[in-house]
Amino acid sequence: MRILVIGGAGYIGSHVARALLDSQHEVTVYDNLSSGKPENLFSEADFVKGDILDYPLLETTMKRGFNGLIHLAALKAAGESMYEPEKYSENNIVGTINILNAAARCKVNRFVFSSSAAVYGEPTYLPIDEKHPTNPENYYGFTKLEIERLLSWYDKIRGIKFAALRYFNAAGYDVDGRITGLEVDPENLLPIVMEVAAGMRPKLKIFGDDYETRDGTGLRDYIHVTDLADAHVKALNYLEKKNESLMVNLGSETGITVKEMVESTRKITGQPIPAEVVDRRAGDPAVVLATAKLAQKVLGWTVKHSDVNTLIASTWEVYKSHNQKK
Ligand code: UD1
Repeated sequence: MRILVIGGAGYIGSHVARALLDSQHEVTVYDNLSSGKPENLFSEADFVKGDILDYPLLETTMKRGFNGLIHLAALKAAGESMYEPEKYSENNIVGTINILNAAARCKVNRFVFSSSAAVYGEPTYLPIDEKHPTNPENYYGFTKLEIERLLSWYDKIRGIKFAALRYFNAAGYDVDGRITGLEVDPENLLPIVMEVAAGMRPKLKIFGDDYETRDGTGLRDYIHVTDLADAHVKALNYLEKKNESLMVNLGSETGITVKEMVESTRKITGQPIPAEVVDRRAGDPAVVLATAKLAQKVLGWTVKHSDVNTLIASTWEVYKSHNQKK
């Protein structure tokens, strides 16, 4: 298929573009390179440097003709979204409306959307399935939920079939080492631990060790980005075959605590990783854990690389080499 990957130079988007190319799809990446990296682009894919707020460029690009699109272009700092909501309204919601309008007018009628477990908010039961109430705790999560609602309407009225993929905690790097762009100022646990391991920041702050978990630190469902990327390819195939929309969790169903992540990283990297326990971060639940049975059933998707060792080792390969260049 001919696929437009919007946000395809970013951390997850580049892994998705890679997986599509590996499955013999034709890929065009559309990215404004605000957080995406030129080194995340592949020579086999076309590239359009563009913003999702630039409606005319989106429409011109989509007029080239695509069998489907994958939309991963978004701001994703949950904390920031609570004090700069306007940025999130504009980039996430207005930007997606532009994409939907261009897709409707250019008849691109398969739409894979990068959604988030943030749509659920504080879990009321575990593991979280797709029927769990949606009650986002931050504005970022609200934008993702609102976009899912927009998608349902464009499905009903314009026949755009969508797959909303609710990611849990994406982590890791391409297991074959083909993607090496680092995230700038990462806010998520594993890249921060890696920056400490690589000597790029002095120490890790552990946000609380008095949670109701096996060691008191926050437990999350980490999903390897290669497994995530594979789910996007399978979602496109599903849309092509079934012509039905879909909303699914993508998680590994395995919980890792902050302390376990740090300990395993110490072992794998041989680095000391100084860490201190500080206060809890506002809005952080103790445990977030998915059930991904629906994705397994309807997409035939299973995780292959989401064990703690692969998550850490594949990420260290990238951080280690960046560190050596310094
Ligand atoms: C965060 C977002 C969430 C988003 C998800 C995936 C918040 C409150 N939530 O989830 O909306 O969907 O990323 O992008 O921002 N931790 C530390 N020290 C650090 C960083 C993290 O102890 O420096 C801990 C956290 O308290 C948590 C775990 O590590 O227990 C994972 O944190 P993080 O990577 O930020 O992801 P989430 O908070 O799960």
